[in-house]
This record gives sequence, C-alpha cells and structure tokens, in this order.
Amino acid sequence: MKLAERRGMATVYEPAEDSRLLATVALDRIGGGRVLEVGVGSGYVASRIDAETSATVVGCDINPEACRRARSEGIETVRSNLTRPFAADSFDTVVFNPPYLPTPPDEEWDDPLEHALSGGEDGRRVVRPFLADLGRVLRPDGRAYLLVSSLTDIDAVVELAEGTGLRTAEAGDASFPFERLVVLEITHMNS
Ligand SMILES: C[S@@+](CC[C@H](N)C(=O)[O-])C[C@H]1O[C@@H](n2cnc3c(N)ncnc32)[C@H](O)[C@@H]1O
Repeated sequence: MKLAERRGMATVYEPAEDSRLLATVALDRIGGGRVLEVGVGSGYVASRIDAETSATVVGCDINPEACRRARSEGIETVRSNLTRPFAADSFDTVVFNPPYLPTPPDEEWDDPLEHALSGGEDGRRVVRPFLADLGRVLRPDGRAYLLVSSLTDIDAVVELAEGTGLRTAEAGDASFPFERLVVLEITHMNS
C-alpha cells in the first residue's frame, strides 16, 4: 500500500492485506509452542494465533500505543526494540510484518506510524537488525515467518538472512497492483 494512503491520524497500524497474509500463512503452520510476534501493532495477528492454535503468544512493539492496544486484546506484550530483551532459544515461532516501505530521507517524519511503515531508504532498515538477532532467539528447530514486499527487494532480504546463517523459503504470496507480498519461512541453516 502507498505511503500517502497510510498517512493519517492513527498511531497504531490497522490490520491490512499484509497482516492478513501473514496470519493466514502462520496459522497454517503453527501447531503450538511459544510464539513471538515482533511489531504486534493492533494485536490482530497475535490474537488470531492465540485464538486458533494452542500456542502461547507474546507480542512486542517499539510503539507504546501499540503495546497498550495489543494488551487490551489480551496479548501479553513487551515494549521493546525488536527481539533484544528475549533470552536465547526462547521461541518455536517468530512472526513479523515489519515496516518495509522504502522512504527517501526527506519524506521521513517522526511519529509512531513512521515506525510502522518506513523501512528507510532501501526498505530494509528494520529487517536488517531483525535478521541479525533472529537466530539467537529462535530455537534450533524453530521457524520464523517474515512478511516482505517486492518494494523491499525480496532477493536482498534472502541474502541478508543467508548471511546470518538462516535459510529461507517462500511460504505464501499475494499480488497487488504496486507490489507482491511474500511470506518467507526462515529456519536455521543446519536444521
Ligand atoms: C506494518 S506494522 C504491523 C503491525 C501488525 N503486526 C500487523 O500485521 O497488522 C509494523 C509494526 O512494527 C512495529 N515496529 C517498528 N519498528 C520496530 C522495532 N524496532 N521493534 C519493535 N517493533 C517495531 C511498529 O510499531 C508497528 O506496530
């Protein structure tokens, strides 16, 4: 979706086609265990996993309003920058619909919705540190589901993952006039 369409008064990202694709793909694959949703936002994806699987779900978000909103939906939520506060090998599944829209520096603005939408100049500003720490918190046989867009350069995201010892495979996709959304399933290289 175009950045201009998303600008408005909201401070928490409302579920959209990317949220729904991520939820559909994750729900098909999660049996149970401990699940972390990074960037939980409104709590839509986490709530569906909580309601439709036997998993224990935790959310985290950098935006305090999003944390409040997800908690109000019954999701245990930690305010954090990505996965930093979580111990090694904590999760069987990690899901993330990151900010991925490439945004020139002169179009950046400073409000909570920017942290939901802008992926910096190349769209990978948040994906990069997420992938750098993902292997630490993901159990050896764990799986992560990362929403990426053709706007974010999917091959470049795959390369970043491989550079940190992770393997990727496409687990689902959806095409729109301006972009193709893909959910990457990510595992440890040697799992
Ligand atoms: C595209 S929205 C997705 C929201 C929700 N998961 C969904 O799918 O509808 C991205 C979310 O990531 C959060 N976020 C951005 N940078 C983050 C960071 N460094 N650590 C944690 N959350 C972050 C934003 O605040 C926002 O809630």
